[in-house]
Amino acid sequence: MNKITVVGAGHVGATTAQRLAEKELAREIVLVDILEGTPQGKALDQWQSGPVEGFDTRIIGANDYGPAKGSDLFVVTAGIPRKPGMSRDDLVKTNAGIVQSVAAEIKKVAPKAMIIVVSNPLDVMCYVAKKVTGFPRERVMGMAGILDTARFRTFLAQAIGVSVDDIQAMVLGGHGDSMVPLISYTTVSGIPITQFIKQSALDPIVERTRKGGGEIVSLLKTGSAYYAPSSGAVQMVEAIVKDKKRLLPCAAWLEGEFGMKDVFVGVPCLLGAGGVERIVEIELSAEEKAALVKSADAVRETMSVVEL
Ligand code: APR
Repeated sequence: MNKITVVGAGHVGATTAQRLAEKELAREIVLVDILEGTPQGKALDQWQSGPVEGFDTRIIGANDYGPAKGSDLFVVTAGIPRKPGMSRDDLVKTNAGIVQSVAAEIKKVAPKAMIIVVSNPLDVMCYVAKKVTGFPRERVMGMAGILDTARFRTFLAQAIGVSVDDIQAMVLGGHGDSMVPLISYTTVSGIPITQFIKQSALDPIVERTRKGGGEIVSLLKTGSAYYAPSSGAVQMVEAIVKDKKRLLPCAAWLEGEFGMKDVFVGVPCLLGAGGVERIVEIELSAEEKAALVKSADAVRETMSVVEL
């Protein structure tokens, strides 16, 4: 890929830019932020890590979208992070305004680009980006499911005493307390997880996963998670750049899948050069289906707060 722009040079954005460069996923990475000097300073510092890390990707910082012109892909991390005691939904109005202005700029400088949204509340910010740009659903998606699933896999691996590599799982639904971990599809190298762990031990892990973001917010006190979130965003970029056709849980705009439409929610997506190339309608138990519908309802409720 020629050019990727990361909007927001804060914790998530800067970490994402560095990871993208280290993996040489684009020839050029542009870091855009409203703070004067911050994106320029961070970009210069990151670029200078190239000779040591061994990457030739050029990283450029800017306060305007001139250098972002013609980007193939944008990762949107602009916004304010969650403070202790704040729910993701409390952020909605402020971040909706920010994402609205960012999306309008993207449409101007790169009308053919893809957008991966990371700003919270995630599913609603995806809706703002899609609505403002008018881009098709293949090109506007959100990163949350990979993060929620990574948290789930981390806790499971630790509880069972196996490598995280061998835990396969998928957490669907909105990025919030209503997320839906699919226990029946969770395996250790293909073997159902229930053969390794009792339900009584699984329940607290599901609960800890649901509250995974909040656990970090209350420890950090001044911000929210960024190492794992940036890893998730970069995994999506890599799937697209390398046309890997990965099946990953991503926030996607539903048009009838799982019996729902006109809402962003975390579902299994096939990611490749075309962006969200397919939403895979896997079989769900009645309970899981109901939980997914409920989760989408929670997203819709927050959507209603946004005025565009
Ligand atoms: N355009 C560009 N950048 C902006 C804008 C804007 N309109 N408004 C704010 N920003 C920038 C801020 O200046 C800041 O540098 O977004 C950056 C956000 O960085 P942090 O405050 O460090 O927040 P971070 O931890 O990176 O989280 C960003 O990702 O995971 C989500 O919930 C999180 O919504 C939050 C977002």
